[in-house]
Amino acid sequence: MTTPKGIVGVFDRAAETYDDVGVPWFRPIASGLVEELAVRLGERVLDVGCGRGALLAPLASAVGLTGRVLGIDLAPRMVNRTAEDFLDLPQVEVRIADAAAPGLPVSSFDVVASSLVLFFLPDPAAAIRSWTDLLVSGGRMGVTTFGPQDERWREIDAVFTPYLPKEMLDARTSGSRGPFASDEGVEGPLREGGLIEVRTAHRVVEAVFRDAEHLVEFSWSHGQRAMWEAVPRREHPALRQRMVELARGFGNESGRFSFTQPVRHTLGAAA
Ligand SMILES: C[S@@+](CC[C@H](N)C(=O)[O-])C[C@H]1O[C@@H](n2cnc3c(N)ncnc32)[C@H](O)[C@@H]1O
Repeated sequence: MTTPKGIVGVFDRAAETYDDVGVPWFRPIASGLVEELAVRLGERVLDVGCGRGALLAPLASAVGLTGRVLGIDLAPRMVNRTAEDFLDLPQVEVRIADAAAPGLPVSSFDVVASSLVLFFLPDPAAAIRSWTDLLVSGGRMGVTTFGPQDERWREIDAVFTPYLPKEMLDARTSGSRGPFASDEGVEGPLREGGLIEVRTAHRVVEAVFRDAEHLVEFSWSHGQRAMWEAVPRREHPALRQRMVELARGFGNESGRFSFTQPVRHTLGAAA
């Protein structure tokens, strides 16, 4: 297999620490989505862009041993590690597949869930259309994306801005501009993708950091790694220092601080 490129390559290189640096982030967001989708015992669920399994764990509990959960992702290291983690849960399977073209049988799932993936796909509406085909009539789909960023998070991101190529300034993931900046913007691809009863539910998660260094560690462990990788290596120590100084200003006397992140859960059903 060739080494994955672009954003999938970034996640492949992040796989070792992804969702494993002690910041409550992907798992609370994923659990919220499973609740919003009201996943039931015995259901067949597809998790698109499963990463390290933030959604797979609550989905496995919700469907129980009579259900089935399939996680797909294009980053081989994510898939290998996650498949190993879930070996003891027979209702869970993890495999490599492209979110844009999963290549699965039509009408074979009751639920399609995807947490923090849609904004990475070049044609979100086309992807949703292909996922809609996988749902049985009346099946449910839910995706999460980010609402507006905490102002302090924006300040941290701005440290990277001078180094970033134009295409990385697009901000689709930060919820501040473009199609992912409003409820209607995210609902659009679900409607275009053929879903009905499309609506948005809002939740808030709090990312808690022990101290400024913990934020730096976290920044390497997820999509923000792409920003680090866009910065010349010789500049890393100075950039790290700027980030730490900024984040120290957020902390209490022990250095601890948290960012508040609104999360959009965009939900729909297959006709
Ligand atoms: C921010 S992570 C989210 C992972 C997981 N859903 C979670 O909530 O922790 C985005 C994931 O999408 C995957 N991904 C990005 N583009 C993909 C594609 N075209 N097909 C499959 N997976 C993709 C990445 O490899 C990564 O694991």
